[in-house]
Amino acid sequence: MKRTLSFFIAVFIAGSLLAQSIDLPAPQKTGGMPLMDALAKRSTARTFDFKELSPRQLSSLLWAAFGINRPDGKRTAPSAMNFQETDIYVLLKQGAYVYSAKSNKLELVVAEDIRALGGTQAFVKDAPVTLVFVADLSKMGGGTNEAKKNMANIDVGYISQNVYLFCASEGLVTGARMSVDRATLGPRLKLRPDQMIILAQSVGHPKP
Ligand SMILES: Cc1cc2nc3c(=O)[nH]c(=O)nc-3n(C[C@H](O)[C@H](O)[C@H](O)COP(=O)(O)O)c2cc1C
Repeated sequence: MKRTLSFFIAVFIAGSLLAQSIDLPAPQKTGGMPLMDALAKRSTARTFDFKELSPRQLSSLLWAAFGINRPDGKRTAPSAMNFQETDIYVLLKQGAYVYSAKSNKLELVVAEDIRALGGTQAFVKDAPVTLVFVADLSKMGGGTNEAKKNMANIDVGYISQNVYLFCASEGLVTGARMSVDRATLGPRLKLRPDQMIILAQSVGHPKP
């Protein structure tokens, strides 16, 4: 009896841990502001309201950033030799996740609020979403580490600009950030030695 009970408790705990990954709703892939208007509005913000993004906004943000936009699996941002080495880690109040563009899911990394580790500036903790762009150098074939890092930095630039333009179009605010304590954040995101934090970028609503 005792054994059966502990079996059910173990199954329940395993089930609830698995359930912590988030299925995102379908992203909104049409509409938005005319491109030239979004370019005219693009800017960096350093103040964020506490209000959260809706699940649809979050899904659309991630699709705009680096979602799949063609049947062959290619993405909304280019990548050197189509390596697609950038993973987007998503820091939310309920935990840190990694975006799966293929399954349109947020896969749980840690069920803790580690948003404050997404940067060294005081405003960082207020933003409801911080994206952390992580290059997986193991996906980049041969070549020197220096060449891989150069390509990875450039590839993230395109993704970051997609986020800027999406936010301008949606009336959200955003700011890219190099100032991240990588030595602290890396282990919290369970990164391997060949994964490199390139850039962080917070997203939220403007403060009223
Ligand atoms: C690669 C990169 C790193 C940045 N790092 C930081 C940062 O650590 N902290 C910060 O407040 N802003 C950071 N920014 C934002 C820039 O300061 C900002 O883009 C610049 O001042 C121009 O302002 P604008 O984006 O509103 O045109 C960064 C921007 C880029 C592209």
